[in-house]
Amino acid sequence: MESKIIAALDVPTAADAAQAVREIGDAVSFYKVGLELFLAAGPQVLEMLRGEGKKIFLDLKFHDIPRTVAHAVRSVLAYGPDLLTIHASGSTAMVKAAAEAVQEAGAQTKILAVTVLTSLDQGDMTLLGVTRSVEEQVLALAQMAVGAGAAGLVCSPLEAGKLRAALGPAPLLVTPGVRPAGAGVGDQKRVMTPAEAIRAGASYLVIGRPILGAPDRRAAAQAIHEEMAAIGV
Ligand code: C5P
Repeated sequence: MESKIIAALDVPTAADAAQAVREIGDAVSFYKVGLELFLAAGPQVLEMLRGEGKKIFLDLKFHDIPRTVAHAVRSVLAYGPDLLTIHASGSTAMVKAAAEAVQEAGAQTKILAVTVLTSLDQGDMTLLGVTRSVEEQVLALAQMAVGAGAAGLVCSPLEAGKLRAALGPAPLLVTPGVRPAGAGVGDQKRVMTPAEAIRAGASYLVIGRPILGAPDRRAAAQAIHEEMAAIGV
């Protein structure tokens, strides 16, 4: 079965990234590269991952006018990311422009939309002039983004069940905020175990510190696979 774990390569340099990937070995085949690493190490970190036969989730969360986003998407397609994030709050035309840029290039990259950042609460919604609850806003943006051509969403595991029920089986739901049974939660406030997140409808789990911060990173990743295999997910 294809692994559902994406390890967040939240490290500051290309050398740290290469070392983490070497240490983890075949226990992880999919990595998320975010702004910190991409801006420090540049595209060469993606080439390193490709060279190691790994899949890439490029988490740059584009948010700009549609034309600029389409051009940015076109630029990063050269690195062959499997998943690429944009902000749903850029609205329909921006999501559409990103999805069309992928289609026009004949690329396999899947666009994931971020709805409401999990760092935002109801007070932020009010400040931003959003009268819906956070939950309603997540659902509304999710439906809009998928309707506009996003292949899936980044969402909290606590939102996965509702989104899966509302959107059906097709969209990918990629969930951070996952903690293996017994692991520290760090600054994540609302977490689920890997098994709970998959049961709730998640397609992939983004896991950072429980793997990268472990004394034996490879063993930590393997233990998460085993925790999931034990309950058949
Ligand atoms: O270390 P941890 O497992 O919390 O890492 C989760 C990863 O997912 C980090 O790269 C973090 O930036 C990202 N993320 C998140 N919550 C979101 C969106 C992204 O934790 N809502």
